[in-house]
Amino acid sequence: MCGITGYIGKREAVRVVVDQLRRLEYRGYDSAGVAARVDGRIDVVKSEGKIARLAMMVDGAFPEARVALAHTRWATHGRPSTPNAHPHGDCSGQFVIAHNGIIENYLELREQLSERGHRFQSETDTEVLPHLVEERFRGCVETALREALREVRGSYAVVMVSSHAPDALFAARQDSPLVIGLGEGEQFIASDIPAVLPYTRRVIVLEDGDLAVLRENEVRITRLDGSPVQRPILEVTWDAAAAEKGGYAHFMRKEIDDQPAAIRDTMRGRITAEGAVDPRILGMSAERIRALNRIYLVACGTAYHAGLVAKHFWERRLGIPVEADLASEFRYRDPAIDENTLVVLISQSGETADTRAALRAARAGGAATLGIVNVVGSTLSREAEHVFHTQAGPEICVASTKAYVSQLIGVYLLGLALMRQRERITAAEEAAIVADLARLPEQVQAVLANEDAIVRIAERFAGCRDFFFLGRGLDYCVAMEGALKLKEISYIHSEALAAGEMKHGTLALVTQDVCTLCLATQARLQEKMISNVKEVKARDATVISLVRAGDTETPKVSDYVIELPATRDELMPVLAIVPLQLLAYHLARILEREIDQPRNLAKSVTVE
Ligand code: F6R
Repeated sequence: MCGITGYIGKREAVRVVVDQLRRLEYRGYDSAGVAARVDGRIDVVKSEGKIARLAMMVDGAFPEARVALAHTRWATHGRPSTPNAHPHGDCSGQFVIAHNGIIENYLELREQLSERGHRFQSETDTEVLPHLVEERFRGCVETALREALREVRGSYAVVMVSSHAPDALFAARQDSPLVIGLGEGEQFIASDIPAVLPYTRRVIVLEDGDLAVLRENEVRITRLDGSPVQRPILEVTWDAAAAEKGGYAHFMRKEIDDQPAAIRDTMRGRITAEGAVDPRILGMSAERIRALNRIYLVACGTAYHAGLVAKHFWERRLGIPVEADLASEFRYRDPAIDENTLVVLISQSGETADTRAALRAARAGGAATLGIVNVVGSTLSREAEHVFHTQAGPEICVASTKAYVSQLIGVYLLGLALMRQRERITAAEEAAIVADLARLPEQVQAVLANEDAIVRIAERFAGCRDFFFLGRGLDYCVAMEGALKLKEISYIHSEALAAGEMKHGTLALVTQDVCTLCLATQARLQEKMISNVKEVKARDATVISLVRAGDTETPKVSDYVIELPATRDELMPVLAIVPLQLLAYHLARILEREIDQPRNLAKSVTVE
């Protein structure tokens, strides 16, 4: 998500950290800030908008500072604004922190700290940290930070400067990356390797639970319990462009690998201690939820495909009509809407013109509106009545991967919250689904580990000109997303079809030159799907089947099989899309396409 940089040494520290920050600019952000130690105090400068603006504000301002840190923020808690920009300090301004990640228990900590007299300047979760350090401080900054971190739950990469420790920079990590760049008589720190590369290629990657103290000539790492630990020094050999992508050839490939973390981050802070979904994620009163008589999920492209999954998951249990609709159609077709309608708008960017227009139409009709949005502070996240932020972090590749998977997680969580409020699911059933959701990151990781098999399939079919993606029920929803991924980055013709529809026309196109991807992950539809696989096999098409572990029948009628870990049918889309993303990626790579920026497409479609 956000970017952090830090420096201690003989150079002009503020210049260094701002320069480092520019190397992280490609990741996207909404505000930036710097803290520097000057004359025994910590000075902080922050600004909404671009790093260039911050750079102008601090230009020549602190030439004598030798210790500094900087941050670019991508809003999660609290809108993009100067007060919410990092770094954040305690009441006295003696402990100043930049943080990436999410402090899950910040609300209760903030309440307790406020009761004890602490005053907060921002809406962020981060700000509790410097106040906790302030409270714990008894003369040793390192101990105070250690104790403060033991009180927080969630994920963090933090870097801290303190007026009580003139010659040190402090850092700690849990579930959010942080690397130390080693220099001669100077040290660098950053959330990502590209930020240290212009200065050094020798790095230490901190592990979860590590706390580091950096001095000009020393880096000391301990665990949160205080025990010392050694981490290996790595020599980075990537060039700067590759480093931006974390060593990957393309952002898309990196973002596919980011998906386990995106799932965890989207669930973070949304589950109660009892294993239920926190109903507050809906933002609506229980009364209003119970009065709903119809739901529309409205979106474009990949986000629409997430809406289709929602339709299936929600409608079965909610007992009211749930429709998924393309925003470009919805806005012009006068749908039936009243004050008991809920319109859910799904959008990664929050800026898609048709989705925004659909929101306006829904509001005009008096419906309740709920955005599922990745970019905090975007138009949709400001204009929808209620918002669920997906917390996938910035997505840079035009083709959506991790944002889609996090939209699916959002759809499951919101669906469960609706079901509970309308008494359509028991607490035990809900807890069982939540437990299965929590296993998904590990299962996605297992699918990713099977990449070699997908590479071989891509090599075999790189010359194929037509791909059909077939599925039933939720598999049909995933087939649509798989076909879209393939066409948009490889430019190969691909189409998704509800498997039962084949014989009503499209079967005429099936010949031995066609490659069919048959999705057969839904246990309850398995037999039906096998019949459809046989239909295309009988026309000599090659069949690649996506099956759940334990299915021994579908493989018998398939040419190639990709096996997925098994979970309940309803959650299989999260696992099934991953090999399809990899297949699209590798086909496009073999065909030497512009993967991250496909022709004719834009990341944010702000015009109709
Ligand atoms: C495809 C893709 C697009 C977007 C669509 C909506 O990979 O990314 O289909 O899903 O343009 O964009 P958002 O989600 O920003 O509204």
